[in-house]
Amino acid sequence: MKNKEFYNDKNVLITGGLGFIGSNLSIDLVRLGANVTIVDNMLPRQGGNLFNIEPVKNKVRINYSDIRNQLSMNHLVKNQDIIFHLAGQVNHVDSMKNPVQDLEINCLGTLVLMQALRHNNPEAIVVYSGTRGEYGSSVSLPVNEDHPLNPKGLYAVTNLAAEKMIIVYQEVFNIPGICLRITNTYGPRHQMMHDEYGVFNWFIKKAIDDDIIPVFGDGMIKRDFLYIDDLVTCMLMTACTKDAIGEVFNVGSGVPVTFRELAQKIASISKTGSYNFTEFTKERAEVEPGDYWADISKIKKIVGWEPVTNLENGIKKTVDFYRKYKEHYWSKNE
Ligand SMILES: NC(=O)c1ccc[n+]([C@@H]2O[C@H](COP(=O)([O-])OP(=O)(O)OC[C@H]3O[C@@H](n4cnc5c(N)ncnc54)[C@H](O)[C@@H]3O)[C@@H](O)[C@H]2O)c1
Repeated sequence: MKNKEFYNDKNVLITGGLGFIGSNLSIDLVRLGANVTIVDNMLPRQGGNLFNIEPVKNKVRINYSDIRNQLSMNHLVKNQDIIFHLAGQVNHVDSMKNPVQDLEINCLGTLVLMQALRHNNPEAIVVYSGTRGEYGSSVSLPVNEDHPLNPKGLYAVTNLAAEKMIIVYQEVFNIPGICLRITNTYGPRHQMMHDEYGVFNWFIKKAIDDDIIPVFGDGMIKRDFLYIDDLVTCMLMTACTKDAIGEVFNVGSGVPVTFRELAQKIASISKTGSYNFTEFTKERAEVEPGDYWADISKIKKIVGWEPVTNLENGIKKTVDFYRKYKEHYWSKNE
């Protein structure tokens, strides 16, 4: 397999590697023979969780730094072959309540990383995990990479700015960068403490607790949901594709699903929980972009990636994981 050969003995730095995406990626990279270093500051109320890397805990190096720390980043990027840049302020609600923190982590943090690479290791490949939120409300569907960029919340604005920084460093300083605009991703190792981001996983938590899944509005908004293993494969394949350098790609399933359908499927597959409809909270309504599903033809063509996990299988695997490891994800006061 192309990935196997490419990653064997490669040095890989994962920013935000104790979180949802970063930990799943770390586990696969260790299996592929890479030397993995994680940098993560365990930002409160986000997905950083040491249990996430349990299967590889003795095989990765962890550095508890903040990506905004120049001295740490100058040191950490040295001798790395690939950087997966996943550290970010990801909480949509917090981005509106505390926008300065969002700006500092997502923009200053990205800038510090890119400066560290510029001065210490300009040959490393950087893969940036941006969001489909960069598009804002869809004016045409499915959304392709040329769709207008009109982010609705500050989190999406700072993600877009970070993406543009990576592209500028690629064009001006030749630092090989690849930017992904990732859709709503779900699966094992996502935080389950609150519903402020990661609504799919929150629905799963409610079902496992035999509780009511709260679907906003009439539940007819359509979204594109991607299973984590497909995203990890996508990131691994993208980083080893030469023609991907300098490109921006949509990453999604390409399949629209309504929240109503999602809640029905989760309750029926987990055999617990039910759902009802509830008003959007003010905070949610402010940043809700409406229907979205991705046109993934560009990444299929250039990288050769496409998702393989259907919604039913993805839900089942996720429910099984959390039923088994619930104690590590449910907040302590429950
Ligand atoms: N999960 C999704 O559906 C999704 C979709 C689109 C984009 N993304 C992007 O992917 C990235 C990872 O998301 P995730 O879902 O794994 O979130 P997560 O909250 O599970 O992980 C983020 C990690 O980054 C760490 N972090 C935050 N600020 C940091 C800092 N200043 N220095 C060092 N570490 C820091 C956190 O402690 C956490 O472990 C984010 O940039 C997010 O915007 C995620």
